[in-house]
Amino acid sequence: MTSPAHIPPDPATPDPFAPARLGPLHLRNRLIKCATFEGRTPDALVTEDLIEFHRETAAGGVAISTVAYCAVSPEGRTDRHQIYLRPEAAPGLTQLTAAIHGEGALAAAQIGHAGPVANSISNRAPALAASRIPAPMGMALCKSPDADDIAALRATFRRAARIAVDSGFDALEIHCGHNYLISSFLSPLLNRRHDGYGGSLVNRARLAREVLESVREEVGDGVAVWAKLNMYDGVGAIGAPRRPWHGFNVDEACQVAQLFETDGHLDAIEPTAGSSLLNPMYLFHGEAPRAAFADAFSGPMKWGLKVGGPFFLKRYQYHSGYLLPLARRLREAVDLPIIALGGITDRASMDEVLGEGFDFLAMGRALLREPDLPQRISADPTTQSQCIHCNLCMPTIYTRTECPIREEAAVR
Ligand SMILES: Cc1cc2nc3c(=O)[nH]c(=O)nc-3n(C[C@H](O)[C@H](O)[C@H](O)COP(=O)(O)O)c2cc1C
Repeated sequence: MTSPAHIPPDPATPDPFAPARLGPLHLRNRLIKCATFEGRTPDALVTEDLIEFHRETAAGGVAISTVAYCAVSPEGRTDRHQIYLRPEAAPGLTQLTAAIHGEGALAAAQIGHAGPVANSISNRAPALAASRIPAPMGMALCKSPDADDIAALRATFRRAARIAVDSGFDALEIHCGHNYLISSFLSPLLNRRHDGYGGSLVNRARLAREVLESVREEVGDGVAVWAKLNMYDGVGAIGAPRRPWHGFNVDEACQVAQLFETDGHLDAIEPTAGSSLLNPMYLFHGEAPRAAFADAFSGPMKWGLKVGGPFFLKRYQYHSGYLLPLARRLREAVDLPIIALGGITDRASMDEVLGEGFDFLAMGRALLREPDLPQRISADPTTQSQCIHCNLCMPTIYTRTECPIREEAAVR
């Protein structure tokens, strides 16, 4: 997409480093550290280590640092080492948001329910999904929520949003991607329901819309709320005629984004793609760290990943702004501000993305590698990221999330 040399921005293109508005928020620039589950919450509570991670990211120059992952309930965690939003977590979260604010940035919480991605053995609670599909991490079938369970889920999201806001978060990102619970409802492959939450796209989008409505009702207009929305699950060819084994696709994502826009509960959409359940590497593109991923597990999972690695962890060619071909479709479909994501790591790609009408820029791996990258790009627009999208950071989520190459360089 981009040439390595810096292309001077069109005068009409917003400066990525100039202040901007996102819903009710005043941002010091257009850069957001996206959700990268930090793996620093062994007891499901904030630790000093997590605070330091976000303090350092905030000091590095982003406008918003997104804390991930904040589950809405115990069974909504991918495993028991993740925070779930409850009164007991609030004091630590309050310290965390204060540390981010202390560095001049704002704090976002990624709020969600892991659905079929949850490890029911670790959580000691059944995983949920739109339908009774297998949940591989817990080696059991998911529970499919009935209408009463769904009403309870709305209330759970509402309660979680309240705790997050009372703990000082300025923004909430509602996870509607990666085949987590809400995304499992959106997916025609995973959602085989015959009630008002299954079948047509409007029905499959009902849970997402109800959750967004509940969250907005709870937090009001003083907090920014956006959805991280899948554009494509990575299952079935993009643009191919729908087949029963295909997941959610970009045509449907555009329609869902239009429904979100009409509902009026969101300040932005952050489009993403891929499935933590069925095709994780589509999220990232680049190298598929099969051996390191298998090594993060033991027992049958390790064996399964060794044998099935090439099928589960596919390799996709990485290029700068690799999700833009899909995101452009969303850009055309709605007027809502869009937070572009996926392989945005230098000033040239930032200018190009903003020049195409996207509003904000999210960065993940490049900030794990160099938290101060925004500041350095701001000072010198020719700065290039040292992230080589080897994706070795990915399996570290099971221990303590970090860029192993950065850690290695620090030791040397
Ligand atoms: C180590 C790691 C952990 C991640 N954890 C989450 C997460 O908790 N929630 C989420 O929505 N995305 C998660 N992601 C995906 C990122 O938010 C982002 O979509 C992806 O890394 C692409 O952006 P990038 O090219 O800037 O890295 C994670 C990514 C990495 C590398």
